[in-house]
Amino acid sequence: MIELGINIDHVATVRQARRTFEPDPVVAAALAEQGGADGITFHLREDRRHIQERDVELLMRTVTVKTNMEFGCADEIVEIACKAKPTWGLLVPENRAEVTTEGGLDVVADQGRIASAIQKLKEQEILVSLFIDPDVAQVEASAKLGVDAVELHTGPYALASRHTLTDELARLSEAGKVTSALGMRLHAGHGLNYTNVRPVAAIPNMIELNIGHSVVSRALMVGMREAVAEMRRILDVCQLGQK
Ligand code: PXP
Repeated sequence: MIELGINIDHVATVRQARRTFEPDPVVAAALAEQGGADGITFHLREDRRHIQERDVELLMRTVTVKTNMEFGCADEIVEIACKAKPTWGLLVPENRAEVTTEGGLDVVADQGRIASAIQKLKEQEILVSLFIDPDVAQVEASAKLGVDAVELHTGPYALASRHTLTDELARLSEAGKVTSALGMRLHAGHGLNYTNVRPVAAIPNMIELNIGHSVVSRALMVGMREAVAEMRRILDVCQLGQK
């Protein structure tokens, strides 16, 4: 069965819009576990735009499934990850101006920095995964660095038109085949939703999918009616008291 990692960053995005205490991504992680998540993914960005160090600390104390901490290769963040000791360290490229992670790591061109982060994480017995584009050269370079998994970037597949969809899926399958042949776990994620996830889940040897934005969006929609009804009930009771 494919493992489902739930990325809770955007629960924190809503909280940070008001810099308040709610919604709490730590509570969302517990609810995601109850819903069947096999892992909780969270991205500690250098600019702390959503997940905060407080979240990392509490998630590490409360999550009972796997923890998958995503971050760039900046020394400060690698150090925090080494102290937090998540099950997985997921290395991603990080640009301050980007809305979300825009592309995979260039493992071919940037081996030095990535290898140094991998070494520090391995010293703490943290499993390492690299987020890469579905490109055979990137998969091979990842294998040379001795990582445990690669997470294939499904963003271009998610954005593909009907003319390019088959090609994007073929790129994912080909990169996936090489990943497994080289002895690494095959993960994928980014932009996956309730309508486009099936073909990616059907890629041979796919082990884990990490999904965030679409699940958090859906949670808002399925929860809105009940949330409003709850406020309605409070106001109805207030009015009764005034009569
Ligand atoms: N995997 C990685 C490496 C990511 O950066 C993200 C987005 O934070 C995801 C998976 C989840 O993507 P989405 O939020 O589009 O489902």
